[in-house]
Amino acid sequence: MRSHHCSELRESDLEKSVKLTGWVNSARDHGGVIFIDLRDREGMTQCVFRPEENPDAAKLSHTLRDEDVVTVEGVVSKRLEGSENGRMATGAIEIVAKDLKIVNKADVLPFQLDKELSNEDLRMKYRYLDLRRGRMSKNIRQRSQITSAARRYLDDAGFFEIETPILSNPTPEGARDFLVPSRLNPGKFYALPQAPQQYKQLLMVAGVEKYFQIARCFRDEDLRADRQPEFTQIDLEASFVDKEDIIGLVEGLLGSMFQAGRGIEIPKEFPRMTYREAMDVYGSDKPDTRFDIKITDLADVFAGTGFKIFKNTLDGGGVVRAINAKGFATITTGQMNRLNEIAVQAGLPVKNLAFIKYENGEYKSPLWKVFSDEEKTAVTETMNLEEGDIVFFAAGSRDSVSTILGRVRSECAVMMDLLSDPDQFNFLWVEDFPLLMQDEETEEWVAVHHPFTRPHPEDLELLEKGDFENVRAVAYDVVLNGYELGGGSIRIHERDLQTKMFKALGVSEEEQELKFSHLLDAFRFGAPPHGGLALGLDRIAMLVSGEDSIREVIAFPKNNKGADLMAQSPCEIGPKELREVYVQSTYKKKPPEQA
Ligand code: AMO
Repeated sequence: MRSHHCSELRESDLEKSVKLTGWVNSARDHGGVIFIDLRDREGMTQCVFRPEENPDAAKLSHTLRDEDVVTVEGVVSKRLEGSENGRMATGAIEIVAKDLKIVNKADVLPFQLDKELSNEDLRMKYRYLDLRRGRMSKNIRQRSQITSAARRYLDDAGFFEIETPILSNPTPEGARDFLVPSRLNPGKFYALPQAPQQYKQLLMVAGVEKYFQIARCFRDEDLRADRQPEFTQIDLEASFVDKEDIIGLVEGLLGSMFQAGRGIEIPKEFPRMTYREAMDVYGSDKPDTRFDIKITDLADVFAGTGFKIFKNTLDGGGVVRAINAKGFATITTGQMNRLNEIAVQAGLPVKNLAFIKYENGEYKSPLWKVFSDEEKTAVTETMNLEEGDIVFFAAGSRDSVSTILGRVRSECAVMMDLLSDPDQFNFLWVEDFPLLMQDEETEEWVAVHHPFTRPHPEDLELLEKGDFENVRAVAYDVVLNGYELGGGSIRIHERDLQTKMFKALGVSEEEQELKFSHLLDAFRFGAPPHGGLALGLDRIAMLVSGEDSIREVIAFPKNNKGADLMAQSPCEIGPKELREVYVQSTYKKKPPEQA
């Protein structure tokens, strides 16, 4: 239906007869002559309808409305001098229309496509229109570019693309499973995979050696800007490799994706940081290193303090730490309230953060007067406290202080406008994660990554002895600007070690047999050493496109209640359909006033 795309024609094409098909982006009447911008996926071309060229076409052009689908045939002509449009790739030319066909009329749209729209529900209800906008069309294109680049890169590196089941069994990745009843097996359920973890390991036992998959994963968890209930991983696994092989491979893979999607070169190697340093210095296991606010330990400064709260914390094995937000003494009351709110949400046991502000040669602080002169000097030196700075303190357990100051640090960076360079990409590997952690409520030991992660070879003895807290994992996360892009590990490939790991996690022998016998069995038959990683494709697409929510790079995302407002999913299922799959709903509809 076309000879060219709407972004293609230039002055070198003058006098050519062409046929373009697309949407009417806008139509203007200039004294009886109609000008339209015709748009397709690639761009826009101006078409002009003059009665002297074809009176019928010119007459018809008066009926055009935004988003009508039309075919225009005509001749490429130079625009009148002074009417060129430097912002359009085709801005030097226009099509003098000889013929117009209206392929399909458009109703009045529920919103204008060329204006930003803050009503996200409306955008989602008419997502197919929302996706026509320039910004969304660019995002969809960039996602396709980075996905193709990943496929090419992994194909070149000898990886086979293999699909694994979607109807599967529960997978221990830390979220709730989505369940699917089985009609043919009454009373039984499939679970949708949270990740293809066990299948990819079984593919290594199957001798595949190098596997990848653009894998859809499903996790029933609380949603956030960077989390969807269904999302996509670039999942990979390889045999006979060590951690360095996987890290090198993923650095190259991300390099090819950023080159394809954004046209930039990223560093060939990323800096590394241990989990401990990330937590202690940045207060996060996915530190944003774009700004230089660091958490500083003040145990030495307050070793002999008379200030009760700090003294009791330090005596009780806790920590006293602080950050200096340099130059942010200008903080407003509203910003201070917001920081206090964030700190309380992060676990601060009191209502307000302790701080010292040094402004106009004066220390303004609820704390300053309780510090001794030595402490004042030591705080000033250790924190490099200068005119215009504000220092925030936290005292408590090591982990809670990290969490609190980590969140405050990030929020300060936003308030101080330190994150506004759209071309700053700080990649980082976080390594040496702990293998296990204790659940605060149940006090049970749970896997930090997943139960198939290999313990650090130097820490095997600790695992044997039950000193779980100090066992490190051969696990690594790749982080970009404070987002976890991906995570992986070298795996356990020996049946004995896997059984030990399950035991540490409190998985009984019966449960092991029930849930994991396929994997434990497979490990008996010559399982090769193997390891891998999965990248969150949605998060990478989000960062490549400069967006701050993965909803902007997913064609049909769910809202934060897990609903698709366009397709109106999830939906109610009638009793007959439920009976067919042997399911009875216990949900009682609330009366309308409570709903
Ligand atoms: P993990 O659970 O760390 O590892 O997931 C890998 C990456 O997937 C992305 N991700 C998500 N993206 C959007 N919405 C979500 N709800 C969501 N959950 C995770 C993140 C994350 O880094 N099987 C292991 C990988 C392995 O060990 O090889 C796994 O799934 O970017």
